[in-house]
Amino acid sequence: VDDSPPLRWIHSIDEIRGLVNAARGRGERVGLVPTMGALHDGHRSLLVRARGENDLVVATLFVNPLQFAPGEDFHRYPRTEQQDGELCAAVGVNAIFAPSVETMYPPASCTRVQVTGLEDRLCGRSRPGHFVGVATVVLKLFNIVPADVAYFGLKDFQQAKIIERMVADLNLPIAIRLCPTVREADGLAMSSRNRYLTVDERAQAVALYQSLQLARSLVAGGERSAERIRDRMRRTIESRPLARIDYVELVDPQTLEAAPEVTGPTVAAVAVRFGGARLIDNELLVP
Ligand code: PAF
Repeated sequence: VDDSPPLRWIHSIDEIRGLVNAARGRGERVGLVPTMGALHDGHRSLLVRARGENDLVVATLFVNPLQFAPGEDFHRYPRTEQQDGELCAAVGVNAIFAPSVETMYPPASCTRVQVTGLEDRLCGRSRPGHFVGVATVVLKLFNIVPADVAYFGLKDFQQAKIIERMVADLNLPIAIRLCPTVREADGLAMSSRNRYLTVDERAQAVALYQSLQLARSLVAGGERSAERIRDRMRRTIESRPLARIDYVELVDPQTLEAAPEVTGPTVAAVAVRFGGARLIDNELLVP
């Protein structure tokens, strides 16, 4: 017999805040998993971990217009509320906070959060304003859902670092847990945007993962030159005719500055377009 309380869908700020504050008042620990919906096994792993570590688990489901530039995929971003609800219920999530755009951004709202230095490189270079949109909505969600701990995936490495920096810089009373990337059987990182791929693009998209594994094995074999590693990674990706490289970078994991040599922990990060999908992935290289 399943006697767990049913999943609650909540659309109002007062209601979710009331629920969370009441739980914390009872001494319960609250976990938050912010998402844009279109949930996959990567999200599931965050939710399962949150379920295991907290008394109350809140997922947020909000396709945040502020993090999409004009011409990006805001309007066609997959919206799969019913399946998202089923996945959350199966994991034992207590509440989904799914606000409207008007609730999150009333007409007069104009405050923006900029994590300077970290937001204009890597993905920020080809998606100007993206991380201002991410930092702004995540800070709002932290204020609306005053949780003890929030969970993010490491697939979005730059996003994860920006959120950690924002939490430290603004002294936010929330712990951040970064969780490993979940992959398809062939290594492709799970992403809501994988649904944009055609069959041929999907087959070739494994090149991102293969380029990162190549970087790993080059470093394990003693290679230290970032230029040579990047060159080999680019060649791996470019061998797939449908791939259009956005960037292939080796960076310092904290500052996200380009690393000329792999002399300490270094993140290899890639962004590649396949048709209408822009895919990202990364791997920590440890010499
Ligand atoms: O990673 C995402 O899904 C989004 O960027 C986030 C953190 C939910 C903010 O909209």
